[in-house]
Amino acid sequence: MKVTVVGAGAVGATCADNIARRQLATELVLLDIKEGLAEGKSIDMMQTATLLGFNTKIIGSTNDYTKTAGSDVVVITSGIPRKPGMTREELIGINAGIVKGVTENILKHSPNAIIIIISNPMDTMTYLALKSSGLPKNRIIGMGGILDSSRFKYYLSQAINCSPNDLLANVIGGHGDTTMIPLHRLATMQSSPVSSLLDKTTLDKVVADTMVGGATLTGLLGTSAWYAPGAAGADLVENIVRDQKRVMPCCVSLEGEYGQSDICLGVPVVIGRNGWEKIIDLKLNEEEQALFNKSADAVRNMNTVLATL
Ligand code: LAC
Repeated sequence: MKVTVVGAGAVGATCADNIARRQLATELVLLDIKEGLAEGKSIDMMQTATLLGFNTKIIGSTNDYTKTAGSDVVVITSGIPRKPGMTREELIGINAGIVKGVTENILKHSPNAIIIIISNPMDTMTYLALKSSGLPKNRIIGMGGILDSSRFKYYLSQAINCSPNDLLANVIGGHGDTTMIPLHRLATMQSSPVSSLLDKTTLDKVVADTMVGGATLTGLLGTSAWYAPGAAGADLVENIVRDQKRVMPCCVSLEGEYGQSDICLGVPVVIGRNGWEKIIDLKLNEEEQALFNKSADAVRNMNTVLATL
């Protein structure tokens, strides 16, 4: 299996590091436009091979896409990250051109690759990659919901005082501070609904904290987070390369599912070797569907900006 990660910044490098440690690929290419950055990080990571016991061969490349040829999975993290006070949506002008160019270059050398988009604003970048590439819809997957769900589980575990690993909880909708929908009604801790374990005020706070989870870290760190975004990207890669068929909330093209069309938005999907294989219908209640529709409106509005660039 060959995997490429485009963008050797904090998120891309962390994603690559996790892919190597979990031995998800025999060959892993890390590519960046900044001279020497991907090579440097790749060599640094390769020098952990004997310490961590992995056999993945990591290759760094300064913008030479021939090195990425024949990749089975490509993770795109390129673009500028947000600074404190910025929304993910404010990045669209710069990141749209970058993501479109990267997708084109990747497909020239890896026409069969499954593409994972992490660049922000993620829902719009996924839609852009889908439309500009013309690829079958199941080969373009936006990674936002896996990260947001792991943040949701973190805040729930803190409030309940339980292990995050005992929680099943999903965030659907957009990957934006106001567009994501932590589905608290359906969240459980070892089969107990979390709504039976937490009072309404606490649960409301968990939901609110989850929605601004990325912004909170941007405020603390001065730039976008990377450990959880990188690990979430690697988790998605694992589900694909090992054909696990696990259900993950991902940003995918909707054609009537969840009442929406002509949009890429976060819903639970079965993931396997062919990309996303099936959308799971969670049977939202009226209130959740209204939130989903509102999220879709905001993302669709953002997508219209693409036409003006
Ligand atoms: C975050 C960025 C990666 O949520 O979107 O941290």
